[in-house]
Amino acid sequence: MNLTIDYMKVSQLDEVFEIEKSCFVTPWSEESLRKELSENAVAVYLTALDGEKVIGYAGMWHVVNEGHITNIAVHEDYRRRGIGTAIMNRLMSEAKEREMIGITLEVRISNLNAQRMYTKLGFRPEGFRKSYYDDTREDAVIMWKYFTPDGHYYG
Ligand SMILES: CC(C)(COP(=O)(O)OP(=O)(O)OC[C@H]1O[C@@H](n2cnc3c(N)ncnc32)[C@H](O)[C@@H]1OP(=O)(O)O)[C@@H](O)C(=O)NCCC(=O)NCCS
Repeated sequence: MNLTIDYMKVSQLDEVFEIEKSCFVTPWSEESLRKELSENAVAVYLTALDGEKVIGYAGMWHVVNEGHITNIAVHEDYRRRGIGTAIMNRLMSEAKEREMIGITLEVRISNLNAQRMYTKLGFRPEGFRKSYYDDTREDAVIMWKYFTPDGHYYG
């Protein structure tokens, strides 16, 4: 595998959408993903490539001084090879360069694999959102990784 990670391009959206559909009960539409790239000034989207092939992606919104992860997925054939971790690490570097105080995300309470990855990356559960997901009414775990020394914003 020749792994590279870079900003997502509009020309990669078809491949991204295929992965999105295969991963999520309620996938984002291709149009929403397109709007994220073309119209959302606070969005940062990355793709992981094996050569030219898109094998994973993730997105984050830069909201004031926080990073909010919107989605992350790795192609089924490429999982458990550190690609999710590599994309997240790149998003965290991007967040630190932009002087964010930390990154937050929501994850389904049943999605233990993703939670394991986030925990390994230093994210910690900070709360729950009851019935957050419209499709199954499942709760979300809110996780945070702070970059400030004491875990809080103070100035
Ligand atoms: C979650 C996801 C992005 C992880 O991507 P990945 O490239 O396979 O993750 P990594 O290889 O970097 O795994 C990092 C760690 O996460 C944990 N992990 C990931 N997948 C796991 C699995 N299937 N079983 C157990 N632990 C798992 C492990 O601790 C792993 O470290 P290890 O392999 O050294 O034990 C991928 O499984 C995926 O696309 N899932 C479907 C979409 C999704 O759920 N997205 C998250 C929405 S919040």
